[in-house]
Amino acid sequence: MSECSAQRDAAAVDQYINSALGLEEPVLEAGRRHAHESGLPPIEVSAAQGKFLKLMAELLGARRVLEVGTLGGFSTSWLARAVGPQGQVVTCEFEPLHAKVAAENLRAAGLDERVQIRVGPAANTLEELVQADTEPFDLIFIDADKRNNVTYLEWGMKLSRPGTLIIVDNVVRGGLILRETLGEDPAAADIRGVQQTYRWLAEDARVDATALQTVGSKGWDGFAFARVL
Ligand code: DHB
Ligand code: MG
Repeated sequence: MSECSAQRDAAAVDQYINSALGLEEPVLEAGRRHAHESGLPPIEVSAAQGKFLKLMAELLGARRVLEVGTLGGFSTSWLARAVGPQGQVVTCEFEPLHAKVAAENLRAAGLDERVQIRVGPAANTLEELVQADTEPFDLIFIDADKRNNVTYLEWGMKLSRPGTLIIVDNVVRGGLILRETLGEDPAAADIRGVQQTYRWLAEDARVDATALQTVGSKGWDGFAFARVL
């Protein structure tokens, strides 16, 4: 099967799953459309992946979730649903426009009261959270500029406790992680960032990790999972 028809089939199967399980919730899908219409890149997680994040958070009994990379607030909304009305999601976003659209989407979904959007470079926000002695998070979802993944993991460790689950998005990138020579490829820094993520996950004795490939409407990619020991 050619790569193209495999991708078409994977996207069609995602549609089948969404429809069979009723995963496309109207208010969240409206938020997705609002983000695209506002010019945000269509790179948010799929509905099935969003639901997966929600289930993981619920299994952990998570009340506190940290997200790095808000975009239009789609994954944020799934995570905010999981923490319940007493819970909190702190989400970091570099782009003011993304943060504005996310705030609008969270308000429309009735989730704004449990989400704090922090605008600015995530590394600065994470440092501020550490300095403020912020309570540890139960789940940390890293889905921002891939070149800084290791920085986010290091700060994330300081904001976690034994048992915290760290999930990193986009750890396969259509197989680009296999490239050893990246040269002047504009995506090189981000691919290297993902390769460094694997080395960090393998070598840091404070975590136990794995990664899974995914296919579907978001192409061929994957999630890494690390349990803080
Ligand atoms: C990109 C970023 C993402 O977080 C994602 O899920 C897919 C693509 C990107 O920067 O291209
Ligand atoms: Mg992503």
